[in-house]
Amino acid sequence: MTRSILFPIVMVLVFSLVLFLFWQWRARFRRIRIFTKRELIASDLLFAAALVPVAMPFLFYFFSGRFHPIPVFSAWYSFFYVAFLFGIFSLFFYGLLRGVMGVVRRLRGTRTYVYRFRNSAEMASLLLFLFLYVNFLITQGQDAEISEHTVSIPQFETSWSGFRILHISDLHIGPVVHRDYLHRIARQINEVNADMLVVTGDIIDHDMRYAPLVQKFFSELKKFPLGTYAIMGNHDMIESPEPLQKALAQSGVTVLLNQMRSIEYKGSSFFLVGLDYPSLREHMLGSRSEVTQNYFRRATVGLSKKDKKVVLNHHPTDFYFLQSQDVQLVLSGHTHGGQLEFSRRHNSLSLVGLFHPFYKGWYRGKSGESLLYVNSGLGHWFPVRINCPAEITVIEWK
Ligand SMILES: [Fe+2]
Repeated sequence: MTRSILFPIVMVLVFSLVLFLFWQWRARFRRIRIFTKRELIASDLLFAAALVPVAMPFLFYFFSGRFHPIPVFSAWYSFFYVAFLFGIFSLFFYGLLRGVMGVVRRLRGTRTYVYRFRNSAEMASLLLFLFLYVNFLITQGQDAEISEHTVSIPQFETSWSGFRILHISDLHIGPVVHRDYLHRIARQINEVNADMLVVTGDIIDHDMRYAPLVQKFFSELKKFPLGTYAIMGNHDMIESPEPLQKALAQSGVTVLLNQMRSIEYKGSSFFLVGLDYPSLREHMLGSRSEVTQNYFRRATVGLSKKDKKVVLNHHPTDFYFLQSQDVQLVLSGHTHGGQLEFSRRHNSLSLVGLFHPFYKGWYRGKSGESLLYVNSGLGHWFPVRINCPAEITVIEWK
């Protein structure tokens, strides 16, 4: 715990020192009026080095072949990795601003004007980097939000009243989501009273060397009376998902790959249907949504219209199809709730909302019979969250 607080503080001090040296060096240029091309290139290179100072040893470490899965579980590695990620991102941003600068220069620039613009572009990129990194430090220190909801679904008898499903999604266990954070999340989950736990995909970020950490996380969770069920998401399918599925099975999680289970509660039952995520190979055979439709048909062979169904499916856009399949409730993830929201109010204007018709919270199908809940996720591959905290969902039957 002490280490996970100390490391980012040391990192911020290192950034500050390197940036201070950089600006001191740049001050020398300010006294000179005309710059040679070589000096300008040198300035750019130094800026890049200043922006990703911690990335340099990381790159050396990564490419030196001494990369082992053991240290990647720790928090300090995560802080290290994120600095690299944001450094590269801010450099892209800088490149974009420099592109704009080229246009401005053509239109009206003098060398002095260009130089000033250059300074602003550097400053803007540095501020972006610091903003992202501080946001990461803050969100890493925060607990997930436990959002509680009640639903009334006419097809479910009154005996279901009080039945509780705990829904989590998009853990993205990998370099950005470290073991200290996962340990805290596990503790939060264990404090929730629920009949079952469901996990709607993107459990691992992509690197199967993190499978032991997946196993550690799920083994820390308590046993829910009606079990723990998981499905795959797109990130789980980047590499072959077998190590992940094995780790889940060994920690008592039932992985549903186009399969269903009957869930019995107080003399009644519903079918929990878990849909797999199409692999890249299957993507080539048809569109993702077509493949998912086939998966659903395959998973529900033998079920009738009257059977109650709760579907776990990673990609929420499939709700266009699932709402016409006599399904009462669909639980999804994938969008991470957009990660960036202008306000904490439900479904405020988010960029992700422009591309995903169902991106956060509740949606009702056109016929009014089906419900969809899109979980905001616990992890991410780009660790920035604004007004969109990590989420643990509890859905209780009225
Ligand atoms: Fe995801």
